Amino acid sequence: MSTKRIAVIGTGYVGLVSGACFAYLGHKVIGLDIDETKIERLKRGEIPIYEPGLDKILQRALEKGNIEFTTDYAYAVKNSDFIFIAVGTPSKEDGSADLSYVESAYRSIAEQIGDEDFKVIVNKSTVPVGTGRWAKEFIAELLRKRGIKNPEERFEVVSNPEFLREGKAVEDFMNPDRVVVGADNRDIAGMVASLYEKLQPAMIITDLPTAEMIKYASNAFLATKISFINEIANICEATGADVTVVARGMGLDHRISPYFLGAGCGFGGSCFPKDVKALIYTAKQVDGEPKILEAVIEVNERQKLKPVEKLLKHIPNLEGKTVAVWGLAFKPETDDMREAPSIPIIRKLLELGATVKAYDPVALQNAKRVFSREIEKYGERLQFVTEKDKALEGANALILVTEWEEFRDVDFDKLTGKVVIDGRNLWEPSVMKSICTYESIGRP
Ligand code: UGA
Repeated sequence: MSTKRIAVIGTGYVGLVSGACFAYLGHKVIGLDIDETKIERLKRGEIPIYEPGLDKILQRALEKGNIEFTTDYAYAVKNSDFIFIAVGTPSKEDGSADLSYVESAYRSIAEQIGDEDFKVIVNKSTVPVGTGRWAKEFIAELLRKRGIKNPEERFEVVSNPEFLREGKAVEDFMNPDRVVVGADNRDIAGMVASLYEKLQPAMIITDLPTAEMIKYASNAFLATKISFINEIANICEATGADVTVVARGMGLDHRISPYFLGAGCGFGGSCFPKDVKALIYTAKQVDGEPKILEAVIEVNERQKLKPVEKLLKHIPNLEGKTVAVWGLAFKPETDDMREAPSIPIIRKLLELGATVKAYDPVALQNAKRVFSREIEKYGERLQFVTEKDKALEGANALILVTEWEEFRDVDFDKLTGKVVIDGRNLWEPSVMKSICTYESIGRP
């Protein structure tokens, strides 16, 4: 494999993992971020996010001298041929994607492209369909304003969406189900594809909008599977069926597949909610009524509060009661609190008068930031504890929101007599029902 010079703009989990993995594969990588403190920490080998396996990969890349970090666009653009953009595209109020970080990356790159250069600008950030083609005009115009001749010949824009799960991002990068590359110029798309050749992935080489759409359609479909199984779970509950067995029975049909059929208290994270909303926004602009996508979000919003609904059946008045909450991050193996179901659950419990004792193995810091207003408003009624058993002390009930592995082996004695709502179907109902008042999602 020939070594290529790559810059990665943005050192969040996508940028940092992609940069470290490219460097591990043997490419020369420059990681750039505008956040100086973050870059200083990375230079010292400190990783600002919780991502299993990333420390080892990054360490190896640093030792081999294959990765360096900077805040200097001039340096990054000059010393790279491929410039990956991996900055955030958060949701705006109206559900559309906020492209201001992407746009500012384009501007900063365009300021550095010279008369003799040819740079391949690769979008890894999830951007609405059509952004790549728009970016080509936008960047060309910026170059024209700087007096660069034939600006269209100085760069190409490529879409190379990421399919990395947080917490499994290194594993997903190194063992991709597929790599998607979209560009108007197929030769250049092929050049970007060749950066991954060591991994021998299934490859889709296509045009810009199709690549952009594959990303949204994939996330929206996975989110749809979750909302679908949650709706089935709610019907199971009312009819005496067991959703976990239903999901197993469905998943054995290879056309369905067993993945993302885990019923629970809904999906969160920085991707599914944001991407489905952005696709709804696009659909409304071009097609009117995206009924399925809207239902996916609606079902999910309702599902997040299911555990509280179930708790109220057993303890109708939560005034003066204490509820332990286990698992705050939006899923295990991450400290990410974005759109986590724990947020509306805890807010609702506080509103209903309960005292909440919240525990998470790694997300406590982030959780305290998210709940800063509630901490101020409710004082002692919202406590964050550093051990799972401490959360149970004096608690009338426990809600399990995130299925961290450490919750599997619970000291059952500590649950005796409590109301336990298992939001992720982690425990065995027959065992639990013998020691506490137990409810899970979609199981008899
Ligand atoms: C998701 C996609 O899985 C990645 O392929 C994609 O690259 C990423 O978004 C992105 O767009 O950046 P991620 O948000 O890290 O990855 O998390 P997932 O592991 O997909 O889980 C998302 C949510 O769905 C979690 O809240 C999880 O608890 C929930 N979930 C997942 C269920 O409720 N049931 C399931 O069966 C699976």
